[in-house]
Amino acid sequence: MKKIKILAESDEMIVNKIKEKIKIKSSRPSENPLEDYFYNNDKKYIDKWEHYFNIYHKHFKKFRNNEVTVLEFGVFKGGSLQMWKDYFGKKARIIGVDINPECEKLTENQIEVYIGDQENRAFLKSLMKKIGPVDVVIEDGGHQMKQQIHTFEEVFPNVKQGGVFLIEDLHTSYRETYGGGLKKKEHLLNMLKT
Ligand SMILES: C[S@@+](CC[C@H](N)C(=O)[O-])C[C@H]1O[C@@H](n2cnc3c(N)ncnc32)[C@H](O)[C@@H]1O
Repeated sequence: MKKIKILAESDEMIVNKIKEKIKIKSSRPSENPLEDYFYNNDKKYIDKWEHYFNIYHKHFKKFRNNEVTVLEFGVFKGGSLQMWKDYFGKKARIIGVDINPECEKLTENQIEVYIGDQENRAFLKSLMKKIGPVDVVIEDGGHQMKQQIHTFEEVFPNVKQGGVFLIEDLHTSYRETYGGGLKKKEHLLNMLKT
């Protein structure tokens, strides 16, 4: 009978592997300033997938060092807002939105934070009235279908000509726990296809 050896990695081994990967990445400057910032970040925590960096840079680079208004749904620890501030430069206005009132503390020079529920159309309407048209939207909030759909419908008309509306974690359209699902018709991806 064949013996099968099962090797289970402990959490510590996994964490060490990730740390090693980050060390290697941060020692090699890349062509992407966002990737460099992320791997060398010693400020607030950033919660991003690494394969997004090339996509961000491809679509956002034309706005760098210009007067640009950037709106991100989903503030969490505030690290991504700091990353956008560094990337877009001194003339950028960075706006974060989160449902968690704790995030209000994360405002700083160039960074504004608004508290509210991105599923709530009345909140979104009053937010857009307050902040005016935007150049770049990064949708990284709760990723639930109603949140994504309402946010897209209320905010997209306020994106300036030539602007970008980037939605993260679109795979949730196929996840039932997010209100999506393979057989479901009313999810964001289907809506965007029509
Ligand atoms: C993935 S985290 C954001 C990560 C952050 N953008 C970053 O890159 O570091 C998602 C955030 O969405 C917020 N969120 C969840 N549901 C929300 C809702 N209905 N309206 C607004 N924000 C929401 C959570 O409080 C959480 O801070």
